[in-house]
Amino acid sequence: MRFFEGCTALVTGASSGLGSEFARQLAPHASRIVLVARRNDRLEELASTLRHLHPPLDIRVFATDLACHDRRSALVDWLASEQIHVDFLVNNAGLGDHGEFASGDWNRIQAMLDVNIHALTHLTHALVDRMLVNGRAAILNVSSVAGFFPIPHMAVYAATKAYVTSFSEALGIELRPRGITVTALCPGPVPTEFFETASRAGAEDKEHHFRPPPAFTVSAAEAVKAGLLAVAQDRRRVVPNPLLALATAVALALPFFVLRRILAAKSDSI
Ligand SMILES: NC(=O)c1ccc[n+]([C@@H]2O[C@H](COP(=O)([O-])OP(=O)(O)OC[C@H]3O[C@@H](n4cnc5c(N)ncnc54)[C@H](OP(=O)(O)O)[C@@H]3O)[C@@H](O)[C@H]2O)c1
Repeated sequence: MRFFEGCTALVTGASSGLGSEFARQLAPHASRIVLVARRNDRLEELASTLRHLHPPLDIRVFATDLACHDRRSALVDWLASEQIHVDFLVNNAGLGDHGEFASGDWNRIQAMLDVNIHALTHLTHALVDRMLVNGRAAILNVSSVAGFFPIPHMAVYAATKAYVTSFSEALGIELRPRGITVTALCPGPVPTEFFETASRAGAEDKEHHFRPPPAFTVSAAEAVKAGLLAVAQDRRRVVPNPLLALATAVALALPFFVLRRILAAKSDSI
């Protein structure tokens, strides 16, 4: 964790799940952490816990809706006005939607595109030029193993995460000569509020209520630890579960027409 000593980290989606866990694991090492999400009460509660546990830590809260372009710009302006130079950006905020695309709610689909893709890309673009103040900087984009496959009943979510992984890979190559590492964390299922949020309102049936396979599941603490380790080791991507990493590698080695049949059969069985 020496890599993170004295860093200034900005963690999006810090009000729950992986985001709160990133803040907790970074707190003993960072000199400053900025917590971003919509639920101010959750962020303030986490900030006060971390201040109590780590008195030297400067912890700031910025409650905002990252789906909105102007609010993202306001966050960037606020960072500049406070002279906060982020050198570790954790693009973690994200949401899913489980169910058939055709019957999905457009507002939810748009929110997925806005948060999972636009917010991550916008914040990265706005901050990247100012990131190198201490001679090292890093970006950790929280993607998903879903990004490796076109997943029926999570079609848009999986596509947004394919974007995140692809973007991270390409950006990693571009930024390497500038000393900025880029890593995509690609977890399988992690027990957080994600599944509740991704399940459609009032849908208790199998089709709309997703339950992850236990063998591929890791805790938020394990996923975050693997992500931070991968950043420190300058790894381009990490799947934080060996069994899932193996299953993913095998599936990706299959001819696409075979994979397509498996995905279709799995979809029929939902
Ligand atoms: N859990 C999993 O199984 C899993 C697996 C693979 C990848 N992931 C990825 O991991 C990341 C974190 O998810 P999680 O599992 O920790 O789920 P979570 O507990 O639901 O957390 C999602 C976070 O994103 C924030 N967020 C959502 N919409 C936002 C918006 N419009 N503006 C600002 N913040 C917003 C939420 O904060 P507010 O609601 O307070 O705004 C919350 O802090 C996501 O990118 C997700 O796709 C999760």
